[in-house]
Amino acid sequence: MLTSRVGLADRVSFRQGNAINRPFPDGGFDRVWTQHSTMNIAEKERLFGEMHRVVRPGGVYAMHEPMAGLVQPIHFPAPWARDASITFLWSPTRVRGVLPALGFREAEWVNEREVLLVACGRRHRANRTWARPTWRRRCCSVPNCRR
Ligand SMILES: C[S@@+](CC[C@H](N)C(=O)[O-])C[C@H]1O[C@@H](n2cnc3c(N)ncnc32)[C@H](O)[C@@H]1O
Repeated sequence: MLTSRVGLADRVSFRQGNAINRPFPDGGFDRVWTQHSTMNIAEKERLFGEMHRVVRPGGVYAMHEPMAGLVQPIHFPAPWARDASITFLWSPTRVRGVLPALGFREAEWVNEREVLLVACGRRHRANRTWARPTWRRRCCSVPNCRR
């Protein structure tokens, strides 16, 4: 519906599948991305491995994802999980370690923690029921360097 509203219905198609076992051929995409979803997926090596498999050599994997911060365990409910059973946060260090091991080369990594804390602090003050976040949100753009 949103796609139609912004006039992109003839250019966008949707497929539903499992992120750790994608119904797509090797190297079929110029760009792949994840947005606020990797924290719900336990098998990170398989997830990132699938990102690497489906993006073409020289393509880009971009992510915008919450990651584990210094305060552990996190407080619940979190925006993505009512309890610990469906949250699988990795630290930025761990993510940045595994991506190169899978064949990616990091192009850019932006820590948005401070921006997020300011925004959530504003929301927290406006609505006292909002849980104070204890995670970091980071953003990176990682081109595939399989060649
Ligand atoms: C926190 S929600 C975020 C959804 C969306 N990215 C957003 O920002 O609104 C995480 C989503 O990941 C989906 N998910 C969890 N494991 C998955 C998997 N293995 N493959 C595909 N999606 C998965 C969940 O069903 C859920 O819809």
